[in-house]
Parts: sequence; structure tokens; C-alpha cells
Amino acid sequence: MNKYKVLGIAVVTVVTAIVASSCKNKRSPGWEYAPNMYEKIAFDPDQANPNFKDGKTAQLPPAGTTPVGFTRFDYPKTMDGYNQASIEVKSILAPTAKNMEEGKALFMTFCSPCHGKTGEGDGIVTTHGFPPPPSYSKGQSSRGGAMKDLTDGKIYHTITYGLNAMGSYASQLNPEERWKVVLYVHHLQTL
Ligand code: HEC
Repeated sequence: MNKYKVLGIAVVTVVTAIVASSCKNKRSPGWEYAPNMYEKIAFDPDQANPNFKDGKTAQLPPAGTTPVGFTRFDYPKTMDGYNQASIEVKSILAPTAKNMEEGKALFMTFCSPCHGKTGEGDGIVTTHGFPPPPSYSKGQSSRGGAMKDLTDGKIYHTITYGLNAMGSYASQLNPEERWKVVLYVHHLQTL
């Protein structure tokens, strides 16, 4: 046997052994180059985590904390929440011409189809059998009191949660936009 033949047999044997052994465990990826590229150190949110008491990675934020950029409105969708907001919640916006103009544009888009362009409660959908909302300037609120006396907090609460046939606008209008609309509703209350 010459030495090349011996070397050839040795190479074939080693390669066969590698190929055969690499297929043994179908779940194993085999030899990984730089495994830290595949196996990251960070936990996935749905992964079990021994670092926390409840063993979960996704933890709730600590009680009483507010995410950056989030505006709190801690008044529940109840009559008590409505009355409490009426006393405590005041607009964060100055009644400038620009805010009024933007409030008007938002009102025309989101509110006028029911409340009407002048807040009389004669919007287009009321001509199709939808119960007409009370006039902002002359009507009575179903929760008591004249519509023209509705406060910042009561209007903001209504936009946030809706009321009976009126839905919530919390997902369409962010807090600042809601305050712009409130500004315009105050204007319509005086008509
Ligand atoms: C789908 C029709 C509809 C739309 C759109 C709508 N509303 Fe209303 N809204 C109503 C009805 C109906 C009522 C009367 C509800 C009741 O008293 O049962 C009402 C009542 C109100 C009240 C009186 C709440 C109270 O305490 O009595 C306010 C303020 C108000 N809406 C503001 C708005 C604003 C601002 C928008 C736009 C962001 C809007 N609404 C959009 C139908 C609508």
C-alpha cells in the first residue's frame, strides 16, 4: 500500500464518521459557527424567566407609573367618574385661534355627522332614523343639566368613553385633539 492510499482511506473514514454522526440527532443544528449569533442573551417576552418571582419575562409596569408621552385620565366610565372629571379636569390648551380652527376641523369630521355643523343635533345621520343628540346650546343632557353648561371635564369624558348611542372617540382622537374639539364644542354651546 502506498502512502497516498493510506491517506485516502483515512480521509474517507473521517469524513464518513462526521457525516454519519452529524445526522444522528435530527433536532440538533450540528456544529454552529459563532453560536451567540443564534442564541441571544436577551429573553423573549413569552419566555420563562427565572429572574422574576412569577417566572415570566413580560412584567407589568410598577403600579402608579405612567409611560413617557401618555396622558392619564383616571376617571372611570361611570356617572361618578363623569361628575368627578367635571370638577377636577380642566383643558390643557389655550383657546387660541389656531386651536379653535383645528378643533372645528376635527368636529366637522368626527362629530357633525350626528351633532350637525352648528351642534343643533341635526346631522345627516339623524335623517336616517338615528336618534338626534340634544342641541349643545338649547338641549338638556340625559345625565341632567343644560347642554350649554357642560364643563371641560364632562365633554372630555364623553368624547373619551361615549354615551349610549354615541361611541367612544378615544382611538380616533388623541388627548390634545380631544381638547381642541372641546374648545369648539364650547363655542357651539354659545350659539
Ligand atoms: C353616531 C352619532 C354621534 C357622533 C358621531 C357623536 N355623537 Fe355625541 N352624542 C350622540 C348622541 C345620540 C348623544 C346623546 C346621548 C344620550 O344622552 O343618550 C350624544 C351626546 C353628546 C354629548 C352630551 C354628553 C352629556 O353628558 O349629556 C356631548 C358633549 C357629545 N355628544 C360630544 C360629541 C363630540 C365632541 C363628538 C365628536 C368627537 C361626538 N359627540 C360625536 C351621538 C353622536
